[in-house]
Amino acid sequence: MPLTRLIVDNLRNLKHVELKPHPRLNVIYGANGSGKTSLLEAVNMLSLGRSFRSHRSKPIINYDTDRLTLYGEVGLERVTRIGVEKTRQGDTSIRVDGRNILSAAELAEHLPVLALNADSFELITGSPKLRRQLLDWLAFHVEPSFYGVWRNLQHCLKQRNSLLRRGRISGPELRPWDQQLVTLSAAIDEHRRRSFSPFLDALNSLEDLLPGVGEINLEYRRGWKRGEDYQELLEAHLEQDLLRGFTQVGPHRADIKITVNGENAADVLSRGQQKVVVAALVVAQGMVFNQHTGKQVLYLVDDLPAELDQDRSRQLGGWLSGLNAQVFITGVEQGALIGMWPETELQNAAVFHVEHGKVSQETLGAE
Ligand SMILES: Nc1ncnc2c1ncn2[C@@H]1O[C@H](COP(=O)(O)OP(=O)(O)OP(=O)(O)O)[C@@H](O)[C@H]1O
Ligand SMILES: [Mg+2]
Repeated sequence: MPLTRLIVDNLRNLKHVELKPHPRLNVIYGANGSGKTSLLEAVNMLSLGRSFRSHRSKPIINYDTDRLTLYGEVGLERVTRIGVEKTRQGDTSIRVDGRNILSAAELAEHLPVLALNADSFELITGSPKLRRQLLDWLAFHVEPSFYGVWRNLQHCLKQRNSLLRRGRISGPELRPWDQQLVTLSAAIDEHRRRSFSPFLDALNSLEDLLPGVGEINLEYRRGWKRGEDYQELLEAHLEQDLLRGFTQVGPHRADIKITVNGENAADVLSRGQQKVVVAALVVAQGMVFNQHTGKQVLYLVDDLPAELDQDRSRQLGGWLSGLNAQVFITGVEQGALIGMWPETELQNAAVFHVEHGKVSQETLGAE
């Protein structure tokens, strides 16, 4: 399901851009501030209805106008048309084949995207939130009934927390919510566990992940200790929960523990090594998606070769090209980006040069 046509109007410095991306590799190069990340931001918004850089619409819309519009065509034989419009007032409208779409989950089905950028580092160094999102992304795509359970869990937690914040509530009054929470938590744990296992297999299939560094190990943590009964834990934590006004243990605290030679990966890996590991995690995500849906994700890779040596960039290029997915990759220099790919793959590539918000297609190798 590649993106075969893209029209961007008034997203940051991209006043009007039209391009026909290649179904496989798209190399996007240009000077700092030329608009490369903005182009990826446009694709990401066609996928999710929102930006990966800003939660507010205002900074994304070109200074001179009051709305941005995006249009994309997805697919080679059967084409899906996606339109996204955002106004300065913060309104978003999304249309798929002329039909208004209200849920981001429905939109993402048409153009599933995975982004690899400077923020992706936080998968290793940041709080558990991003790793939990990875767990849920996997479960969402691998386990069809996950989303419904997940939504019920969010609702149940919200209700329980609002009761806790009101205070002066006793254990028996919380009981019905606790019972629901226990059932939903067991289901979420099961979904996450089941989808995590093919993810580990995919990751292990990526050879030479950290040559000469050591064994990397990923462990799924469900949010409450192994062997402990969640119902009993809720009861034991009640006083603390009341004091702090929220539920302290449960699946909303799940995490993936990433270690290298038994140490926290964030504490021992160099930045370049972290980048390779993060790239591997995201590549493995796409592999699992492909195995379970028969479809491909589109990869948005922003400025990745920076900090990677030649061997590591080639390794990443090999992984990405091995997926047969569509890839958009940006960088300041064309040469470094082209050099990442196996030579046999270069016939499946298009090169775009971005200059002051204008994008032009170039012949491969002509800089
Ligand atoms: N709302 C806006 N309206 C107009 N221009 C904007 C707006 N927001 C940001 N810009 C400008 O758009 C340009 C594009 O930024 P972008 O981040 O896409 O550049 P880039 O090519 O990725 O650069 P780098 O190589 O530094 O990452 C920048 O010059 C930025 O100052
Ligand atoms: Mg950029």
